Amino acid sequence: MTAPVKQHLIDPAVCIRCNTCEATCPVGAVTHDSNNYVVDIDKCNFCMDCVSPCPTGSINHFVMVQKPFSLDEQFSWTDLPEVGAGESGYGDAGAAIEAVDEEAAALLADAHKGSGGKVRAPASSAKPRINLFSRSNPIEATVTGNFRLTAENASSDIRHIILDFGANAFPVLEGQSIGIVLPGTAKNGRPHPMRLYSVASPRDGERPNTNNLSLTVKRVAEKNADGSEQRGLASNYVCDLKQGDKVKVAGPFGSTFLMPDDPAADIIMICTGTGSAPFRAFTERRRRSMPSAHGRLYLFFGARTPQELPYFGPLQKVPKKLMDQELVFSRIDPVKKEYVQDRMRTRASDLAMLLKRGTTHIYVCGLRGMEEGVEKSFEFICAQFGIHWHETRAQMRDQGRYHVETY
Ligand code: A2P
Repeated sequence: MTAPVKQHLIDPAVCIRCNTCEATCPVGAVTHDSNNYVVDIDKCNFCMDCVSPCPTGSINHFVMVQKPFSLDEQFSWTDLPEVGAGESGYGDAGAAIEAVDEEAAALLADAHKGSGGKVRAPASSAKPRINLFSRSNPIEATVTGNFRLTAENASSDIRHIILDFGANAFPVLEGQSIGIVLPGTAKNGRPHPMRLYSVASPRDGERPNTNNLSLTVKRVAEKNADGSEQRGLASNYVCDLKQGDKVKVAGPFGSTFLMPDDPAADIIMICTGTGSAPFRAFTERRRRSMPSAHGRLYLFFGARTPQELPYFGPLQKVPKKLMDQELVFSRIDPVKKEYVQDRMRTRASDLAMLLKRGTTHIYVCGLRGMEEGVEKSFEFICAQFGIHWHETRAQMRDQGRYHVETY
């Protein structure tokens, strides 16, 4: 059996035959007949130049196949075909046919490991646009803000960075990530590895109808054990950005860690430190689009101290009706070190009540170390209230209601 090959395809059911892709393709790989626009696998070099100009997203499909589809087969389609056994959609697990930048896909797959094998988006979530820009074809954003979120005397420097896309479209949904393309090359002469950051603002921008997004970035100072690459290279680059600086951005990435578009959904959000970024986006989205939603947000947020908890001030102003907050601090009291998973146990009966509902969604984001503790707390709570945690979790995963993003 030969190794599967990657093939770029156009979805004929969505394509509006506007010729943009054919006109954009620098290598003449896109062609058409009276029926369909198609991609020649022998010419396509995956430069992605055609992806962002496509007005429908129909161009944005990549598969791993044993035997590539011929041009004649593609001309005859009315829909994209199923991929065969041993073949796969190229991208996030669970997606049949999807385009994801390889480097970003690997980073996301690692971050989402804790979500379980087959990761699904909530059934009601909006359809994300992904992979519109890549490392080799990035979009340029302008830095319009860089504010320190942690107190000046705090031990960590966490920043709120605002990137503006001017007149260009860069559609993101809450929970998606972007890649920051670092200038220069690493010691080995290769480009620096891409770093993904979760978007901290809702889809319509920092303020409604602004074409910008924000990131929550912590300055990391350590070096790798082998000293080869400074671990904090990307975070220092981003944290040092000044207003007016231009940044190269890839993405958007991620098609599963998305919020349900359902006013009945209760959303449990568990995070540490900068893992709060997607939850700031979720909260703002709920506040703006469904201010009287029946479902509620539940936030379990861990930080060392209030001075080191990103968005501590703004969180105080979020109405109780919209969000139930548990801010948990590990370094206030030298005797008592409290983590989010400890506070979950304090709220056992409320969490058990939520777990019994088919409209509850769980999101965990932040330090990988927290996963085990959170898992144990869910097990503990379920055991107390006669709930089978592993069955519940499996069902929630299946229904796109259980998501983990850790690093
Ligand atoms: P601590 O570092 O005091 O043990 P950080 O500031 O490093 O980004 O971490 C954010 C918060 O997450 C801190 O309060 C930190 O506590 C806490 N934390 C560290 N390890 C875990 C863990 N395994 N589970 C839950 N929280 C953790």
